[in-house]
Amino acid sequence: MRDKEKFKELFNQALVKDVFEEEINIVLSGQYGKALELLRDAESTGLYPALVGPPGVGKTILCRYFASIRAKESQYSHSFHWLTMDESIKPSHFLGSFDPAITLNKGFVLDAFNPGPLLSAMLEGGTFLANEINRATEYSQNTLLEPLEEASISIPHLGRIKAHEDFFFISAMNPEELSGTHRLSEALKDRIKIWIKLTYPDKSTELDIIRINLPEHFTIEESELELIYSIINETRKNTVDIEVPASIRAGIAMAKLLGRKRYLEREHDNKEKESIYVHLSDIVKTVLLGSIKPKPGVKVQDIINRIINKILGA
Ligand SMILES: Nc1ncnc2c1ncn2[C@@H]1O[C@H](COP(=O)(O)OP(=O)(O)OP(=O)(O)O)[C@@H](O)[C@H]1O
Ligand SMILES: [Mg+2]
Repeated sequence: MRDKEKFKELFNQALVKDVFEEEINIVLSGQYGKALELLRDAESTGLYPALVGPPGVGKTILCRYFASIRAKESQYSHSFHWLTMDESIKPSHFLGSFDPAITLNKGFVLDAFNPGPLLSAMLEGGTFLANEINRATEYSQNTLLEPLEEASISIPHLGRIKAHEDFFFISAMNPEELSGTHRLSEALKDRIKIWIKLTYPDKSTELDIIRINLPEHFTIEESELELIYSIINETRKNTVDIEVPASIRAGIAMAKLLGRKRYLEREHDNKEKESIYVHLSDIVKTVLLGSIKPKPGVKVQDIINRIINKILGA
């Protein structure tokens, strides 16, 4: 965007100043209610929790919701900072770093320091989510030991700060057996004392999640929703061919695409609705292609064809 004034105006309009300003559509039945309870236990006892679960089971939305409750209840803890870790993340990404130009003029002074998300949460008494913490290198994981153990952090050249008493640290990770993750260091593991496991939700909870994420004008019939769930669930049952099955996101995507097709049919007053089987087999092919990870040597297309045959008929 070339126009700086326009950029500033749009940026300020879009800025979320407080976590609780944001509306979060969350379903709290089944495992989510229990997980929220455990997060609250963790907060009251000063123990740091970790959410463990495969991609797309609701770890981030739960943390965001939890942070918003904290924000409503406290005059501090109004911020929610998070960082998704991987091998390229260095401690300076979450702690902050010195601005080279200012440092050149003034040296390593506070003025020259740009705080990272962890340091900001520690100072403000906010919530920090270390997403995919087990993807970070051991070097980066080790930098998190001090905040977890002592609620403090040492910033090179500046000194050691004590965290605000409302500071809260949540870790989230995919289970270790999924490829692409480092192990969580033993030292870090020992400092996390509340392990909250999230998995694919039970049927009625997942159906509620799909419903809540579906725009009003895209409503679909209950029988259609059930079919979508059967397809998603089929990918989760097939642990022989599939390493990572379809997540909640895939079900939401299918429901949205089907909802749009039904909406267009209503708009155009189509007397003859296209059969659900025709619509869904197209949608399944489109969505599942990138939503499941097959085991080595298995073709994703073969899996999809088998699911379509089984659930929707050839
Ligand atoms: N309890 C819930 N209520 C409402 N929506 C949910 C719930 N759980 C998951 N979702 C929806 O499912 C999707 C995935 O959730 P989320 O991003 O929180 O998963 P995640 O576990 O953080 O995934 P990843 O491991 O890929 O980061 C989002 O669109 C979210 O809105
Ligand atoms: Mg996430």
